[in-house]
Amino acid sequence: MSSVLEITVKEEKELKYLAKPILDLFGNQKVILFDAPMGAGKTTLIKEICLALGSTDSFSSPTYSIINEYHYPEGKIFHFDLYRLKNVEELLDLGIEEYLDSYNYCFFEWPELIENMIKGNYKRIEIEVVENIRYIRVIKK
Ligand SMILES: Nc1ncnc2c1ncn2[C@@H]1O[C@H](COP(=O)(O)OP(=O)(O)OP(=O)(O)O)[C@@H](O)[C@H]1O
Ligand SMILES: [Mg+2]
Repeated sequence: MSSVLEITVKEEKELKYLAKPILDLFGNQKVILFDAPMGAGKTTLIKEICLALGSTDSFSSPTYSIINEYHYPEGKIFHFDLYRLKNVEELLDLGIEEYLDSYNYCFFEWPELIENMIKGNYKRIEIEVVENIRYIRVIKK
């Protein structure tokens, strides 16, 4: 059974305070799927979580790249945007299995293709936007 923890966000600046508690909900899980419609705030939330991990990297890397790599004091963070990938073969060509097995944080936007490939545990975050209020749901499996 899965349980859900829901966080309500009215303004973007609140994310600065919410990123650390959200990170704590991940526990020791480092593979996190961010499933939400276009423009819901996946990238914004991931960047705040990276800051909460202590990353001082500049997040100016192009949003059209599929993999972004950031650093934080304890290691690396890989941020994937799978929006433009068409099939599992393209995912395998990226060497996705090595990333998943690397014990680094792997954050995925548009995670449909990856979900069936994950052998270990992972967490899912869903964001729903209703009249400018964001409902961030952390699904604990
Ligand atoms: N919690 C929030 N409250 C208000 N605005 C937000 C919030 N989170 C993100 N935004 C704004 O929404 C816009 C889209 O955010 P973002 O790029 O993070 O979405 P996304 O889900 O990654 O989009 P895409 O599907 O294109 O990758 C940005 O202008 C951002 O500033
Ligand atoms: Mg995005």
